Amino acid sequence: MKIFIDTANLEKIKEANSWGIVDGVTTNPSLVSKENMDFKTLVKEICKVVDGPISAEVMGDSAEEMVKEGKELAKIHKNIVIKIPMTKEGMKATKVLSSEGINVNVTLIFSAAQALLACKAGARYISPFVGRLDDAGQDGMKLIAEIMNVLDNYDFNTEVIVASIRHPIHVIDAAQMGADIATIPFDVLDKMFNHPLTDNGIKRFKDDWAKCENTTKRPSKQKNTSKAKK
Ligand code: E4P
Repeated sequence: MKIFIDTANLEKIKEANSWGIVDGVTTNPSLVSKENMDFKTLVKEICKVVDGPISAEVMGDSAEEMVKEGKELAKIHKNIVIKIPMTKEGMKATKVLSSEGINVNVTLIFSAAQALLACKAGARYISPFVGRLDDAGQDGMKLIAEIMNVLDNYDFNTEVIVASIRHPIHVIDAAQMGADIATIPFDVLDKMFNHPLTDNGIKRFKDDWAKCENTTKRPSKQKNTSKAKK
């Protein structure tokens, strides 16, 4: 499963990328609004850090506006993926952009029916939001299972990005279901490294090694001491 980082914060992207596990980046208007930088400049900077798909979202309501914005954003870098919301206008725009070779990530997917429509319109990626479904009292991961089942029956050139991830269990469930990608917030990625037994294990190895180093140092010290006596 590929791992994307779900943030527009350059420092976090650089830090996570340095861990060697980041395959791409997803941003959205809310994430971008937290950063004090012009949108296109920010996206350009992100493309310099991560060599993989970088999703940038359009804000227009009509297909015409989305296509115009999408084409502008796509000029920034070859890795730009145009993020388009799951609406009728959005699907019209997805059809136009994808048929011109521009990759589209259809976002705000909350049902398997929406996922199927996005695939039909030519989406290269679809983003079902698991955390927001959980927040609304539904089972977000159940939607991923349904979508993976539907897509297994056909040959769409579409990858599923599990989005709106809230904790490491979402990531593991996504991997067990064979989702193509999980887009993960920085704090969740960070948590995925942790296990108390790993920390205990490192401490025990260090303690044992320190004892062993003492043992090997002792004879040479004694040797020196005896030389000194002579
Ligand atoms: C996906 O691409 C979105 O940026 C994101 O996962 C939304 O998650 P949220 O529900 O935490 O805002």
